[in-house]
Amino acid sequence: MMGAGVALAPVALAPWLARPARADDDPSALHPQPGDRLVFLTGPKKGQIIKPEDLPLGGPQFQAYPQSPDGVLRDGSRLNLLIVIRLDPASLSPTTLANAADGVVAYSAVCTHQGCPVNAWSEEKKMMVCSCHGSTYDPRNDAKLLFGPAPRPLPALPLKLVAGVPMVAAGFSARLGGETA
Ligand code: FES
Repeated sequence: MMGAGVALAPVALAPWLARPARADDDPSALHPQPGDRLVFLTGPKKGQIIKPEDLPLGGPQFQAYPQSPDGVLRDGSRLNLLIVIRLDPASLSPTTLANAADGVVAYSAVCTHQGCPVNAWSEEKKMMVCSCHGSTYDPRNDAKLLFGPAPRPLPALPLKLVAGVPMVAAGFSARLGGETA
């Protein structure tokens, strides 16, 4: 059940749910690598590299995929779906600030409960929400759980700013995926 009084805004759909698996050596299926940039999954800038000024300060989050320096979109694994959000650096916990690039932070979009995409936004709470069972994650504080059945935070994807563009600085901070997916 969703929390009472929480108005949710859908962020995007997740087309990977119906895609076939790809080979392990397919670069599109590799998890994000240092030097990758992030591209919009949907919206008017679909396929474009994300820059801080493209994102509204304070949310909501946008769904994205990593893209290699030579242009390979890493959409071959459903676990590569990301959420990207721009926040006031002064509002971030020390760990989240260390992973941010000019206030832009990235997390796995795969809910740690049962693997649904975290595809909604609570404007009231300023939190990211999984619309399957309502798990609510705090983007300012390491995606820690505020509410819901998810057992752990969303893994963070550390970023750094290079020539004004957020770039992957290291791999995910924790194991990806839900408990059953
Ligand atoms: S899959 Fe996200 S709350 Fe259950």
